[in-house]
Amino acid sequence: MVDIHSHILPNVDDGSGSTEESLALLELLKKQGVTVSVATPHFYAVRHKLSEFLERRERAARILADARSDGVPAVRLGAEVSYYEGISRSEEIKALVIEGTPLLLLEMPEAPWHDRVVDEVLRMNDDHGVAVLLAHVERCLPFQKKHVIERLAEGEVLMQMNADSFLERGTRRFAVKMLRDRKIHMIGSDCHNMTSRRPRLDEAYAEIRRRCGEDAAAWLGAVEDDFFAAEAVR
Ligand SMILES: [Fe+2]
Repeated sequence: MVDIHSHILPNVDDGSGSTEESLALLELLKKQGVTVSVATPHFYAVRHKLSEFLERRERAARILADARSDGVPAVRLGAEVSYYEGISRSEEIKALVIEGTPLLLLEMPEAPWHDRVVDEVLRMNDDHGVAVLLAHVERCLPFQKKHVIERLAEGEVLMQMNADSFLERGTRRFAVKMLRDRKIHMIGSDCHNMTSRRPRLDEAYAEIRRRCGEDAAAWLGAVEDDFFAAEAVR
């Protein structure tokens, strides 16, 4: 299983605060059945220079690679890219796709989106080589009008949901409905630490199987295989 959204790299963002914590997170992800952990530190174009971000991410990944033990999930590098106006015209975004895939994990504003914002997301998705995957859509889609969601679906924009959405009262109904309708494509832990934001993928998948059926879990696995076939041993 692939964990498509996580903050497991040490000391790069508001995620793991030490190499020890990163190792503990990897161990826990392994116990939950994860074989590939995609590290997606936050990228804010207003705060970060791309080259500095990539260097910092590389350094953290190297520290973790040197410290990790055999058998823990493989780490793939990506980023959680915060949306900004003009992003579709930026050449930078191609450097931020998830290693070995065209997936760009995009964090959208938690407010209603103007049509021009949707246009921009669709433009990015049309751009050669980039497949937009909207991050934790449970936070932003409930604000959107029906036609916005329809346009994104028509444009084949992919949707990621946090595993916790299936476990919390406030979001469970929405998460279950979205998955039953096959409107979400990938589940991520979005884990940040070993305390308040631990990964809960195993619990979430149990809930998914119970409420949406084995077919839904298999469907998520098939989407995952499209992008990670060689490594995503389930
Ligand atoms: Fe995140």
